Amino acid sequence: TTNHLRHVESMATMPSGAGNIPHLNAIVLGEALASEENDLIFPSDDFSRQAHVPSPRKYLEMYKRSIEDPAGFWSDIASSFYWKQKWGQQVYLENLDVRKGNIRIEWFKGGITNICYNCLDSNVEAGLGDKIALYWEGNEPGVDATLTYIQLLHNVCQLANYLKDIGVKKGDAVVVYLPMLMELPITMLACARIGAVHSVVFAGFSAESLAQRIVDCKPKVVITCNAVKRGSKVIHLKDIVDAALFESSQSGVSVDVCLTYENQSAMKKESTKWQEERDVWWQDVIPKYPTTCAVEWVDAEDPLFLLYTSGSTGKPKGVVHTTGGYMVYTATTFKYAFDYKPSDIYWCTADCGWITGHSYVTYGPLLNGASAVIFEGAPNYPNPGRCWDIVDKYQVTIFYTAPTLVRSLMRDSDEYVTRYSRKSLRVLGSVGEPINPSAWRWFFNLVGDSKCPISDTWWQTETGGFMITPLPGAWPQKPGSATFPFFGVQAVIVDEKGVEIEGECSGYLCVKSSWPGAFRTLYGDHERYETTYFKPFPGYYFSGDGCSRDKDGYHWLTGRVDDVINVSGHRIGTAEVESALVSHPQCAEAAVVGVEHEVKGQGIYAFVTLVEGVPYSEELRKSLILNVRKQIGAFAAPDKVHWAPGLPKTRSGKIMRRILRKIASRQLDELGDTSTLADPNVVEQLIALADV
Ligand code: WT7
Repeated sequence: TTNHLRHVESMATMPSGAGNIPHLNAIVLGEALASEENDLIFPSDDFSRQAHVPSPRKYLEMYKRSIEDPAGFWSDIASSFYWKQKWGQQVYLENLDVRKGNIRIEWFKGGITNICYNCLDSNVEAGLGDKIALYWEGNEPGVDATLTYIQLLHNVCQLANYLKDIGVKKGDAVVVYLPMLMELPITMLACARIGAVHSVVFAGFSAESLAQRIVDCKPKVVITCNAVKRGSKVIHLKDIVDAALFESSQSGVSVDVCLTYENQSAMKKESTKWQEERDVWWQDVIPKYPTTCAVEWVDAEDPLFLLYTSGSTGKPKGVVHTTGGYMVYTATTFKYAFDYKPSDIYWCTADCGWITGHSYVTYGPLLNGASAVIFEGAPNYPNPGRCWDIVDKYQVTIFYTAPTLVRSLMRDSDEYVTRYSRKSLRVLGSVGEPINPSAWRWFFNLVGDSKCPISDTWWQTETGGFMITPLPGAWPQKPGSATFPFFGVQAVIVDEKGVEIEGECSGYLCVKSSWPGAFRTLYGDHERYETTYFKPFPGYYFSGDGCSRDKDGYHWLTGRVDDVINVSGHRIGTAEVESALVSHPQCAEAAVVGVEHEVKGQGIYAFVTLVEGVPYSEELRKSLILNVRKQIGAFAAPDKVHWAPGLPKTRSGKIMRRILRKIASRQLDELGDTSTLADPNVVEQLIALADV
């Protein structure tokens, strides 16, 4: 086809020297791709022609520069932002090698800026004041609102003034427990405006999880709303916050103010439980404040936010992102990975409680002056056509979501999709877990009418922004592959000894040098930062993911290689679930593994050993699950509880999860060598109890 030839031709004229970048060798050669013609899906000529990066050649040119001259590459981009004062002599400083001392990453140090200013004031000054910044779609169809850039700026300033008034200062933490209301991005931006550090906690976390985070970062104020409706269910968020604040006060951390937005469509003021001395209604105070607020100028390396995420052990980690590098990186990745143009209407279905909502609902789009849709409700309410209804309503051009949503919608009749036009769509995106080829094809063929490239973006809370991602006009796609590294990202695959492997291979995904959006530390625990991410393979940042690279240089993520489970794109540590289970008085021991799940990607499978003499029952099963819901949140509830009078352990007492994974997925003929077990009989016993 002509498309195909065009690409091969452009590959033939690659700049010489590009072949020095090992994983791109195959692509440069061109014939590797040509032989795979049938597996490749090319962007249309029309799409490529208008794209920021129209060809592999252009990508390579830019990529090469970004690797050979990161300082030049990134400072050119950073110069288009507003800096009160430019950064110092060195654009960046890094040490990613634990053998050479402490891990340290700095970008644009000495540069003075403010991300809220760059999101709002800059755009208003550039004439976008009346452009819609946020379209808000409520849970109920027909309930909606908009904010222009200037209106958003005014709202943000009012809240910023209030926060200053109650004593919140630069560097103070603010905990935010809000659903997808306009007030969530408003709060994030207001914090950024005054240099306060926001810590958004996903409003699906339980009171105990919220309390744990409050105790860790000790905010002056917690911002929430009284309730939210998701689908037909009302969730009383304020009650959860009340419980969390009670619990944190027991641990000696008391919060002065609980600012509460009255979310009228879900619950009236009058029925909300109230503590006069602490609680304040948002609507009572915020509108009284001035709509202008001077910006607190901060250093590029001052913290912007804290976001807790799960690790393979113990308590959640407070990932710290700073201002300058994060700003430059989220804006740039947004622009290129979605081929963003000023006429686009962008919708990302993620919640601001996760990193995706930070980087690609709030900051990335607003830094680009984009119009973004935010959605309060559930994607299948009132029916599974809701997403496409919203796409048509706002004429969405870029739609970014998670494979779990694609798979769940795939199960319903295609008619829920085809009854809507979806003509406005031009780019689709996927994030959170590997997208399986069949979901990819459904998304591409049906939702995108076979004309919208899919940006399958691989990244993490820690990376701040996209790391491996298609550039939609540049690459022929392979369904299920995240394709190639973004500019400035030296993605490498290493073997178990930490040696880089090249060409067609599979191993552990690492990154060789820093990028502007990288996290700088774990809050209050730099040592854990170094141990978790930089010690496993000295000299590299270790992602925790497995990855293979095919002969064309395409990357295929294969999932976590640590004890982290990815449920519907949410990261859950097996240790956290286990500790919630064993906190049940009748549970003696627990071992949790991930199993393949048709919709969620992975499901949670829990083996539980009960206290001596306690019989297993349906009631006990439910109460064990309830413990997890209460301690972590409903999204972490085990899908299956498997009663285990004994667990397979080595003679030294280590649980053999490999065997548990096989039992959980019923791959009983693949149990492997069980002879090293302290008691090989437990395996038979477990198999016999599989359906109890
Ligand atoms: C983990 C990070 C980053 C936003 C959402 C999750 C998995 C994420 C992909 C993708 C394959 C992916 C990885 C990663 N992951 N995106 N496109 N293809 N896997 O953020 O909670 O920090 O989780 O999600 O396993 O390590 P997170």
